Amino acid sequence: MKGVLIYLSKHGTTEKVAQQMQNLLGDEFLLVNLKTTKLPDLSQYDTIVIGGSIHAGSIQKGIQLFCKNNLTLLLQKRLGLFLCCMYEGEVAKQQFNAAFPDSLIAHAKATAITGGEFIFSEMRWIEKVIVRKIVGVKVSKSKINSEAIASFVTSLKN
Ligand SMILES: Cc1cc2nc3c(=O)[nH]c(=O)nc-3n(C[C@H](O)[C@H](O)[C@H](O)COP(=O)(O)O)c2cc1C
Repeated sequence: MKGVLIYLSKHGTTEKVAQQMQNLLGDEFLLVNLKTTKLPDLSQYDTIVIGGSIHAGSIQKGIQLFCKNNLTLLLQKRLGLFLCCMYEGEVAKQQFNAAFPDSLIAHAKATAITGGEFIFSEMRWIEKVIVRKIVGVKVSKSKINSEAIASFVTSLKN
């Protein structure tokens, strides 16, 4: 499988998840951080995975734009979509459905909500205030869902 995983990550969690996926997919699966790495020629890849995280209800603008600008091409690829977030259940599903275009969700071979982390050492003061006061979480917390990651990779491969 010649593939590329395109992602954005604010505090490093989506990047960790991307690396866990790469470990399962194989080193030939290229990781591309949209913020720091030049996008390769996507026509050269048969599989494309896109991942981002939720902050204040929305996925990164860069992921939204990437999906919008490459919609036709993405609909011709084996596609995987994943999302890092701290909410679970129905709220997480709603965030996922709002994060990616409907047509891409319908087309995707694999989708996953992979959990997330609150890393206080990476947060700006305003983010710390939001997480402490609004979410009620006071210390760093990690709940990356490794099972969801493994089953995502299995669906993508099959
Ligand atoms: C300021 C702030 C706002 C957040 N808002 C949400 C939210 O609206 N919904 C949610 O499920 N998770 C929310 N999260 C949790 C993030 O999705 C989680 O920290 C994720 O792991 C971040 O991944 P990243 O480091 O790759 O950006 C928020 C986190 C922070 C710090």
